[in-house]
Amino acid sequence: WIASAVGLAVAYLLGSTPSGYLAGRLLKGIDIREHGSRSTGATNVLRTLGKWPALAVLLVDVLKGAAAIVFVRWFYPWFYAISSATPPTALELQVWVPWAVCLAGLAVLLGHGRSIWLNFTGGKSAATGLGVLLAMSWPVGLGAAATFVASLALFRIVSLSSMLAALTAVALVCGLEQPLPYRLLVIAGSLYVILRHRANIQRLLAGTEPRLGHGSPGQG
Ligand code: G3P
Repeated sequence: WIASAVGLAVAYLLGSTPSGYLAGRLLKGIDIREHGSRSTGATNVLRTLGKWPALAVLLVDVLKGAAAIVFVRWFYPWFYAISSATPPTALELQVWVPWAVCLAGLAVLLGHGRSIWLNFTGGKSAATGLGVLLAMSWPVGLGAAATFVASLALFRIVSLSSMLAALTAVALVCGLEQPLPYRLLVIAGSLYVILRHRANIQRLLAGTEPRLGHGSPGQG
């Protein structure tokens, strides 16, 4: 359980890294949570601070999701090897590492959405979720990214595209017969991402969700 607790804590802290907030503070001296959709994610950075800061925040947020998964995959076997008299067998690792990945994936998403440094506020965890998916199973990650790009090209609405990508990930992780912990991670993680988009869903239904490059939602 010590390994699981360390994995969870590291993943949550990685997710908590307030990239969008720092971009606002450092580049314009503003609290991005008082602008646009109030989210600290790359989309709100794009509408509030511009293209390059948004690209940097997007990259950091994807990387922190991937880093959490890479970390537990390395840490779990290492910790067991040094802490137990008998090193884990390949079969034990094959069973337990995916569960560690599942917990770390959920923790990094939660950290991004509810950052310890931002009074438990944050972003909507779509970019961080993409990083988790790419590191967990790259075909699932690429499939979700492809849906995002296609939907964005078609509708030019980021929130809708993020949610469609989340649903695609669920379909792929089940369709590609991934291990149970991966399926649980993607189902719970996608549900979390969609729930974080509640305000966007209301605007989509009301027909007021702004398209990319066309104004601001005004509230998150
Ligand atoms: O990843 C967040 C995106 O899907 C929506 O962001 O700022 O338009 O609510 P925003």
